[in-house]
Amino acid sequence: MSRNGRITIIFLIILLGIAFIYLIWPKTEDAKPRTAIGSVSLPKVEITTNVSVEQAIQNRRSIRRYTNQSLSLQDISQLMWAAQGITDPETKFRTVPSGGRTFPLEVYIIVGKNSVNGLDEGLYHYIPQNHSLEKLLNGDLREQFAKLSNSQMWIKNAPVNIIIAGNYGKMIDKYKDEKLSIRFVDMEAGHAGQNIYLEAEARNLATVAIGSFYEEQAEDFLNLPPDESILYSYPVGHPAKS
Ligand SMILES: Cc1cc2nc3c(=O)[nH]c(=O)nc-3n(C[C@H](O)[C@H](O)[C@H](O)COP(=O)(O)O)c2cc1C
Repeated sequence: MSRNGRITIIFLIILLGIAFIYLIWPKTEDAKPRTAIGSVSLPKVEITTNVSVEQAIQNRRSIRRYTNQSLSLQDISQLMWAAQGITDPETKFRTVPSGGRTFPLEVYIIVGKNSVNGLDEGLYHYIPQNHSLEKLLNGDLREQFAKLSNSQMWIKNAPVNIIIAGNYGKMIDKYKDEKLSIRFVDMEAGHAGQNIYLEAEARNLATVAIGSFYEEQAEDFLNLPPDESILYSYPVGHPAKS
């Protein structure tokens, strides 16, 4: 065999070896496969309301007692949009500012049984690109999620719980600076959270920021991808008279 022939064969063997190692190498994304089990389009967002921004800021309060009155699909549409909706179809910029236009936040919602007209109980992931919810898990997850949130039982009693997760890796890829990236993602979650508070206030709904969880267990329970961390949750319901 000629020298060139031998080089070609060696080259092919190396190439096959690399391909084989690539195929058998465990991939972190594969560790927890996540498949949507349904999809729900959300109604168009209503931009006008009788409540001014100033009134919403003035009246915003953390409220932890809710009635069991269900929410409407319009309520969910407004809350998802406030947290992370796309407001400029050209640039794809969102309701919340984003360091370096990185958009590292993901929004989920736990819906209780008989809690939202038009939505079954389960865990959903908000898809800003088409303003829809992708269903990820079945069942009423509120009680277990409340236990994983240091047993804060208002989480179990609220019709829904909005969850904000952050992807630090996305920000680190952009800025190559871990400390800055963690700060940026955490700050961005605060913007989304305040929007949820104000939108709830404008719709006569009630909420509270929850920052206390058994993080790893909660992320596991929600089957979050390995690169997402739980940052906040927001139980939302109609306020109970105190
Ligand atoms: C980062 C952060 C974490 C919080 N975590 C919780 C929590 O785990 N549980 C809770 O009931 N309230 C939590 N809160 C809400 C505060 O208790 C509440 O904002 C504070 O008592 C002031 O009340 P106000 O929001 O009505 O002004 C949190 C607020 C922030 C900003």
